[in-house]
Amino acid sequence: MNEQIEKIVRQHLQENYSDSLTRFSYLNGGAEQFIRLTQNPDYTSYERELNLINQILPNIKNLVGSNLQIIDFGVGDGRKLNQILSSLRESIDVSYLGLDLSPTMIEVARINNRFGDIYSICDFSNMGQLTSVFERLHDSERLIFMLGNTITNEVDVESYLHSLRSITERQTYLAIGLELFQDNVDEIVREYRNEENYNLTFRPLEMIGIERNHGQIDIDFNPERQRIEEWFIFNQDGQVRDIQYQEGDRVLLSVTYKPTMTQIREMINNNGWNEEMSIVDRGYALLLLSSD
Ligand SMILES: C[S@@+](CC[C@H](N)C(=O)[O-])C[C@H]1O[C@@H](n2cnc3c(N)ncnc32)[C@H](O)[C@@H]1O
Repeated sequence: MNEQIEKIVRQHLQENYSDSLTRFSYLNGGAEQFIRLTQNPDYTSYERELNLINQILPNIKNLVGSNLQIIDFGVGDGRKLNQILSSLRESIDVSYLGLDLSPTMIEVARINNRFGDIYSICDFSNMGQLTSVFERLHDSERLIFMLGNTITNEVDVESYLHSLRSITERQTYLAIGLELFQDNVDEIVREYRNEENYNLTFRPLEMIGIERNHGQIDIDFNPERQRIEEWFIFNQDGQVRDIQYQEGDRVLLSVTYKPTMTQIREMINNNGWNEEMSIVDRGYALLLLSSD
């Protein structure tokens, strides 16, 4: 994992920001830290999404056949999929595969998701890895869950939707949960500015030996790219392993894309997905898409 982090950091130091470090934040203690964040009463999107899921479950049951393969991109604490599987398995034959980069997160999900049976370490930002996972699946309809804003941490959500569609051969449904752009984005940015969040997003740099006091964390909304960006800006020259950095160099720790409903709809339609249904509750959207 450290080699991948180092590679991305080297790219950033050459001002190539085509990949970010967000997905490495949940390794080791990052998993527990994420769960503590979701349990904070201010983190309301967790419960809002659970309610939206309950609302779309009957539609999913109507839409899919009697045999379904669920693939969970980013297992988190496992509770959401526990609820989904317990409901779907009342009437449908469902198999489950949970994918995550973080072994610790998988351990937590395994405990909380009593209906989840198979888990695998996979970087689902990597289409090569995903293709080989898909090749091993059996020949039935598929439903991918990408909940809890996970897709918004992709550096380029549109090209992610495009790539995922292009490796999708069988009838596939994709359920995405994400927070939409809201006028109070500055308030949201202020909520990101806390030590607990910094510890989470800085974790990948810590893993390769960079120290927090070698720079500052800067968080802001980038209106051009419509996303919250978290940067680490070095305040001194230095070297870690064979990586040399200079004062002012910037590493992109994390991105959180905040599209409007119109923007996300356009991306969906332009990249081969059909919108089956979507519901929004106080700025949080749950979208159910299909490949045909
Ligand atoms: C924001 S959390 C959401 C978790 C859960 N889906 C939920 O709704 O609560 C993101 C999860 O996806 C995993 N993750 C993020 N990017 C990943 C990637 N590219 N490949 C594999 N796992 C990833 C993280 O380890 C974490 O478990």
